[in-house]
Amino acid sequence: MNDALPLESARLRAIEDTFCAHMSRAGFREVRTPFMEATSLFQKAIGEVTDVVEKEMYSFDRGDESLTLRPEGTAGAVRAYLEHKVFNAEPLTRWFYTGPMFRAERPQKGRYRQFSQLGAEVFGDAGPGVDAEIIHLLVEFLRAIGVAPSRVLINSLGGPEARAAYRDALVAFLAPKAAELSEESQRRLHKNPLRILDSKSKQDREAVLGAPSLEAYWTAEDRAHFDTLRRTLDVLGTPYEVDAGLVRGLDYYTRTLFEIKAASDILGAGDTVAGGGRYDGMVQSMGGPSVPAFGFGAGLERLVLASAADAPRTQVEVYFAPMGEAAIAPALRTAFTLRAAGVRAEVDMRGASLKSLLRRAETLGATHAVLIGERELASESWLIKDLAAHEQREVRAAEVVAELLSAVGRGRGAEGPRRA
Ligand code: HAM
Repeated sequence: MNDALPLESARLRAIEDTFCAHMSRAGFREVRTPFMEATSLFQKAIGEVTDVVEKEMYSFDRGDESLTLRPEGTAGAVRAYLEHKVFNAEPLTRWFYTGPMFRAERPQKGRYRQFSQLGAEVFGDAGPGVDAEIIHLLVEFLRAIGVAPSRVLINSLGGPEARAAYRDALVAFLAPKAAELSEESQRRLHKNPLRILDSKSKQDREAVLGAPSLEAYWTAEDRAHFDTLRRTLDVLGTPYEVDAGLVRGLDYYTRTLFEIKAASDILGAGDTVAGGGRYDGMVQSMGGPSVPAFGFGAGLERLVLASAADAPRTQVEVYFAPMGEAAIAPALRTAFTLRAAGVRAEVDMRGASLKSLLRRAETLGATHAVLIGERELASESWLIKDLAAHEQREVRAAEVVAELLSAVGRGRGAEGPRRA
C-alpha cells in the first residue's frame, strides 16, 4: 500500500480529472459504492474458483457478517444497480467510478495491495457497438493522459452455450494428462478449466498445446458479435490483436474480453493497464432481470507509471511575502480576495529572508510575488514582482487586486478599462 505525496497525488488527481471529463463527455455518470461489501457478493459475482476470491480478498467477520474490502468495482456496481432497481428507471445505464480496491497480492512494481481503479460499466445494451465504443473510448483516454497503448488484445469466450460446450471439450482433452498439470491446475481442472489456458506455469503451457480452440465452439451469433466488434474498431481506427488465449481472471465474462498493455517498459510484468469485457449473465444471476452489461477497469497507479505527462508544475500563481507582523493581515486579506476570484495564492508568513522567500515562490511555480514590508505599508504602495519577466513595479495598495487579476489573466482588463 502506498502513500501518495503531493508530487505524485497531483498526477493521480490530474488523471482522475481527465477521466471524469472524458467519460462525462460520452454520457457516463459517476457512481460511488462502498469500499466494503458482503463477502458473499464477491464470491458469487467474481466466482469461487478465481485467484481473487480464493487467495486475494481481505475479509473479516463482524458479528455474524463476513465483509470484504472490494477487490474490484463490477460486483458492487451490479449490486447497486439491482438494489436501487435502476433498470426500472432507465433502459440504458452508463456509469463510471474511481476509487481504491484491495487485493492481497505479492507486491511488485505496478502491483499493490491497495490500488485505484478507473472503471466504467454499461448496462442494457447487448450489441457489439458498445464493446467497440468503450474500447476505443479507453484508448482515447490513455492517449489523452500520455500513455501510449502498445497492444489492445481482444478475444471472445462465446456465450454461455459455447462456453459450456468448450469447457466440456477442454476437460475431456486435459483429463487424460491431468498428472502433467501443475498442482493448481489439477485442482481447477473440474472447477474452472478455462483458467488453465492462461496459466503461467511451464508444465501447464505444454499440457494445453493442441487443446481445442474456443472459437470452434462459438455459435453463429457469437461469431457475428465478434466480427462486428472488429469491423467497428477498424472504422474507429483502434488497432487491436486477436489473442485466442486471453481468458482473464474473473469468472463473469461472456463473449468479448479485452486487455490493454502499455508501451512503457517501466511496468514489467504489470504492463496491463486496463482490462474488461462483457458480462451478460451477471445481473440475472445476482437475482435481477436479464440485463446485458459491458465494462472495464484501469489501474490508476499503472497509468501514472506509464504516463509520459509531468505533474502540473504551478502550485500557486501569486505568492505573498509579507515582511514583518504588520504586513500579514493585509497580505492575507488580499490573498483571500484573489482566491475568491479563482486565483491560487499563498501567503508565506514565516518571516524568512527575502532570498528564501523568492526561492520558494519559484519552487511553487508562482508567476508573481508580492512583497510587503514596512516601507510598502507606510507608502501604501506594494511591490509586485513578475517572476517570469524579471520585472517589478510599485502598485497602489488599493489597486493590487485588480492589477494581479489582470496580470494572471483573470482580470476585467479584457472587458473594460483598467485604472491607470
Ligand atoms: P482486472 O483486470 O482484475 O479487472 O483489473 C483491472 C485493472 O486494474 C488491471 O488491468 C490493472 O491495471 C489494475 N490492477 C489490478 N490489480 C492490481 C494491483 N494489485 N495493483 C495495481 N493495479 C492493479 C477488473 O477488476 C474488472 N472489474 C474490470 C471490469 C469492469 N470488467 C467488466 N467491468
